[in-house]
Amino acid sequence: MLEEQEISTLKRKHRALILAHNYTRPEIQDIADFVGDSLELSRKAAECQAPVIVFCGVRFMAETAKILSPNSIVLHPNPHAGCPMADMASSEAVAAYKKNHPDTLVVAYVNTTAATKTQVDICCTSGNAEKLISGIKKEQKILFLPDANLGSNISRKLKREMDLWTGWCPTHNKILPEHIIQAKALHPQAVVLVHPECLPAVTALADHAFSTGGMLKFVRESDCREFIIGTECGILHRMRKENPTKQFYPLEPNVLCPNMKKITLEDVLSSLRDLEPRIELDEETRRKARLPIDRMLEVLP
Ligand code: 13P
Ligand code: SF4
Repeated sequence: MLEEQEISTLKRKHRALILAHNYTRPEIQDIADFVGDSLELSRKAAECQAPVIVFCGVRFMAETAKILSPNSIVLHPNPHAGCPMADMASSEAVAAYKKNHPDTLVVAYVNTTAATKTQVDICCTSGNAEKLISGIKKEQKILFLPDANLGSNISRKLKREMDLWTGWCPTHNKILPEHIIQAKALHPQAVVLVHPECLPAVTALADHAFSTGGMLKFVRESDCREFIIGTECGILHRMRKENPTKQFYPLEPNVLCPNMKKITLEDVLSSLRDLEPRIELDEETRRKARLPIDRMLEVLP
């Protein structure tokens, strides 16, 4: 409790805003001012006037906050919390692709580094990818990067071909079709919700594929009482807290993102004490990386 109290005192002193992703540790979610998915967190960062943002999530998310809120000090309490999928599409490799495919529109999942964002045309998140791609003219060739699972899930749903990058989320790839078959046999009344970063063979067996924010909304509004959840297990904390009378079963209890879990209360406290480690981006990278994020927020505010 002492840590929480000290965090709260330092937060007031610095007028800091603590943002946390739905996959962070329960105790981090509990001290955050706002918990959300990538899209909700980007919007929050864009509109907030806080002099200090403490971003509890993986690096690309904290970078997005800095890109959108350049005048704020953006603290990333554990600089080792990266996203392996974001690292699968380097800016150099994307630049090389573009050189060879000048007519292709490059749509990047927000799970990309700031450097890679400088090379792409428009960003999307799992919460708006389908809507954003369905708004692009049919004749336009598209490269979707870095997540081949999310790309093929959208491709199949919209019946639209796209070039797909060879990237994947090691955490979501642990979820297999047999897990759904077993879970459905155990809980035949439950609705199966999975994240669209799951393998297409998994999303094909699920009732719905949503972003983490989409899952939370669905569960809140649904009359069903039982849900089988196919994503990182950190989301269960918020689901159970917000819906105490409903039952949630993880598809696989080992689906954990080790990077999201790296951020501890101790890290948050020390970042607020030292106002370090900060996300620093050179101005040219920040400005160029902002363009595809702004395009996304313009198309789908
Ligand atoms: P959401 O935008 O759905 O929260 O997803 C982010 C993410 O990294 C999923 O692995
Ligand atoms: Fe990256 Fe997967 Fe972790 Fe999301 S769950 S941050 S995509 S590694």
